[in-house]
Parts: sequence; C-alpha cells; structure tokens
Amino acid sequence: MKGALLGRARNERIVTAHRLRYDRVTAVQSHAACRLGGDRDAGPPAQNARGKRMLERSFAGAGTSTEGASASRREAPAGETVSRTRAAVLHEAGKPWDIVELDLDPPKETEVLVELKAAGLCHSDEHVRAGDSRARLPMVGGHEGSGVVVATGAKVTRVAVGDHIVCSFIPVCGTCRYCQTGRSSLCDRGLFAGVGCLPDQTFRFHENGEDVGGLCVLGTFSEYAVVSEWSVTKIHDWLPFDIAALVGCGVTTGWGSAVYASQVRAGDAVVVFGIGGVGINAVQGARFAGAKHLVAVDPVPFKLEMAEKVGATRTFTDPDEAQDYITEVTWGQGADHAILTVGVMTADVVDRGIKIVGKGGTITITGIPKQGEMTIVQNSAAITGWQKRIQGTIFGSSNPLYDIPRLLSLWESGDLMLNELITRRYKLEEVNEGYQDMLDGKNVRGVIVYDD
Ligand SMILES: NC(=O)c1ccc[n+]([C@@H]2O[C@H](COP(=O)([O-])OP(=O)(O)OC[C@H]3O[C@@H](n4cnc5c(N)ncnc54)[C@H](O)[C@@H]3O)[C@@H](O)[C@H]2O)c1
Ligand SMILES: [Zn+2]
Ligand SMILES: [Zn+2]
Repeated sequence: MKGALLGRARNERIVTAHRLRYDRVTAVQSHAACRLGGDRDAGPPAQNARGKRMLERSFAGAGTSTEGASASRREAPAGETVSRTRAAVLHEAGKPWDIVELDLDPPKETEVLVELKAAGLCHSDEHVRAGDSRARLPMVGGHEGSGVVVATGAKVTRVAVGDHIVCSFIPVCGTCRYCQTGRSSLCDRGLFAGVGCLPDQTFRFHENGEDVGGLCVLGTFSEYAVVSEWSVTKIHDWLPFDIAALVGCGVTTGWGSAVYASQVRAGDAVVVFGIGGVGINAVQGARFAGAKHLVAVDPVPFKLEMAEKVGATRTFTDPDEAQDYITEVTWGQGADHAILTVGVMTADVVDRGIKIVGKGGTITITGIPKQGEMTIVQNSAAITGWQKRIQGTIFGSSNPLYDIPRLLSLWESGDLMLNELITRRYKLEEVNEGYQDMLDGKNVRGVIVYDD
C-alpha cells in the first residue's frame, strides 16, 4: 500500500514535470510565434571637460531630477501619473492609423510611465497595419521611441523619475536564459510583442473599456505609455530625443545585422539589399567594421545617394549589375556577406542574397516577409557544398542595454551619421502621411516629434 502510494506520488511528480516541461516548450514556441508576425489569437563620457559636465548633469541626482517632466503637455507632476493619452491606434488591418484618446492605467510595481518625445516610423509597424504581420488588435503603434520617465512603480530600480530613456523593442529582463548568455535581443520577455500586453499579461491602454495593446510591449505612437522597466534604457539627458529614438530599433538593428550577425571583418565584400532606416545602418556598421567592397542595392536612387554618404563604395538600382560587379571585384569569389534589409522580404531577394555570396558566405535576413509567404525556396546542395549560412537576426543580435548608449556615443564622436537619416519630422496626426512617404521612397527615416 505504502509502495503504491509512493508510486502514485512519483507518477504525479513525473506528470507534473512533464507538464512543466510542456508549458515551457509551449511558452518558448509561442515566444517565437508572438514576435511580430505572430499569432493574433495568442493570449493576452568622455575625457574632455564638456564630456565630464555632461556626465555630471546626467547622473548627479538621478532619481530626483524632474527636468523634462515638469514641462509635459499635460503637466503631469513628476512621480505622478496621467490617466489619458492621445495615440495612433490600429483598429483593423488594412485601414489607416486612427488618432484617438485612450485611458491609461498608472504603472504597476515594475513599470514606468513615459512621456514620449519622439517616435521613429519603422517599416515593421507598417507590416502590422497592412496585415503582413498579424497582431492582436486594437494596438497602439510604434516601437522606436525616446522620452522621459515621469512616474515609476514602487519596485522599479533600472530608471528613476526624470531619466531620459530610449525604448527597447525587445525587453531585457536580465535573468532569462538568453539575457544571461549575452543574447538579450532574444529575451524571453519579448513574448508578447504582437499581443501588446505588459509582461503580467494585462493592458495599460484602454478605449471605451476595451483593452488596447502597445506594439512590442511599447506603443510609442502615444504621448504617454506605461511600459515595463525591462523595456527602457537610460541615456544621457543632453542627447536629442529624435536622434535617440532611432536607436530604439532601426540603427541598432541595421548596425548589428552587419557587426554582430554577419560579423563583417576588415577587407570583406558586403552587399546590403534595401536602404531604408535599417539598411542604411547596416551600411554604416559594415563600413565601421572595415568592409572593403560595400555595395548598396535599392530601386530608389535617393536611398543610394544616402548610402554613398555613409560609406557605400558602389550602389546599384539593378541587382543583376550588383552581381556582376561583385563577381568582378572579388575575382570571382563572391561577396562575404549579403545583408537583406528590404521593406518586404521576398523569395527573389533571398535568392539573390544566396547567389551573390561566395564560399563560406553569410546571408543575413533582417527584413520581414508577408505572413505565410515562402521566402527560402532554393535547393540546398550549393548551400551545403559551399558552406553558405542563411540566418535571421532580431534587433541586430544586439544587447540593447549595452548597444543603445554605445551607438549614441559613436554618434557623438562622429563615427555614426544619424542626423542625416531623419528625412522629415511629423506630428502624431501625420502618422499615415509619414508612412505613405516611407512607402513612396521619400524617407530614409521619418520621425514623429511630440509637442512640448
Ligand atoms: N529583424 C529585425 O529585428 C527588424 C527590425 C526592424 C525592422 N525590420 C524589418 O526590416 C525591413 C526594413 O525596415 P525599414 O524600416 O528599413 O524599411 P524601409 O521601408 O524604410 O526601407 C526598405 C528599403 O527597401 C527597399 N527595397 C524594397 N524592395 C527592394 C528590393 N527588391 N531590393 C532592394 N531594395 C528594396 C526600399 O526601396 C526601401 O528603401 C522591414 O521588413 C522591417 O519590418 C526587422
Ligand atoms: Zn523597427
Ligand atoms: Zn531576458
């Protein structure tokens, strides 16, 4: 009898262990699926005197400064909260962004209320709007943003009221398997990117009583947002907000696609397909890493002019001409790296990437395809025989808490061109016009700037 009881207890332990393992596997799988393009139904300074002054200003009295906060549009007192915000919300895929007033809950224990100052218009939001990437709706758009912390929950330690921050479109919890192994762009807390709820699976934005998500657990197309402390990176308070916002996605993703994912080395031949807000920074990263031949391909001549300004050695509107050029200058060896940052990934672009790299080459797929469309469809014999590597990268395989401030310091030192990337600034109400300009090839990056 005792043996039977022990046996049953043992069996229950085994069943529990299996269930836990199953839950974990399900969580990991839905993590992958719930990132952009996931399942809509898934649940809820420097050495000089100036630099030293900047440092003092930035860190002295951290946690007590209310600079920036007191000048807010809604006069939200530092450390207090606001209950309404204006935001661009997507109610239905295929329709434009709607500018609406939302109710906003106060931050919970590990959350912060941010007054947004600038938000970049990345193509990934357009994927959601167009229905290319499925997401739970309604959703406040925007995952590239910068702003000021105006209130914090009781247990927040990463930032304090008055801190200037850049939003990280993947949260960085610091404790999951991926954060612990230096791969925080894969943080498990990115799970709800396409659902838009906070890590506790509840929502802070509401419209007429209905829960509204924030894209990538953010929602930067809003005057205010309540986000997890895991989703913010503190920056110096003298950095321009519009420049800083870009580093929340496009700059870091592009730079990292070249430097981290592709691991471009001195003397390499690199081809970047698609010179938008992401691709232009892949060009900058590859240049800084020492690429000898740095080819940019884009159908829009204006984008190629920009690519040349930031370091491309040759540019082509016609990818066949780029192929011939690379074959010639590498003496038939092919490129070392193809970085694919086109707006909508297609099988044709992936095929061209595979073809343009030589033996041992890497094809890094950063751009996002339409949901469900097959984009890797080649026979794999040459990939095996010539040891080519096809890989994806999210957030440029970066570590946001480290890379966001570092890339801003490279901007300060003049090694990274960011001012030049902002083609036009928009008001929140002009978000649809901003995206149309992106689609029409007019912008390298458009940025929403919030009024003071
Ligand atoms: N993996 C990630 O972490 C990550 C992060 C941000 C954005 N993205 C994705 O990266 C892609 C680029 O984003 P963006 O904001 O730079 O977009 P964008 O629209 O600003 O730029 C895309 C560029 O691609 C060019 N293009 C289109 N078709 C092309 C083709 N066949 N060959 C060459 N160029 C072509 C366009 O002219 C444009 O200049 C999008 O799919 C976006 O969703 C991925
Ligand atoms: Zn983005
Ligand atoms: Zn983590």
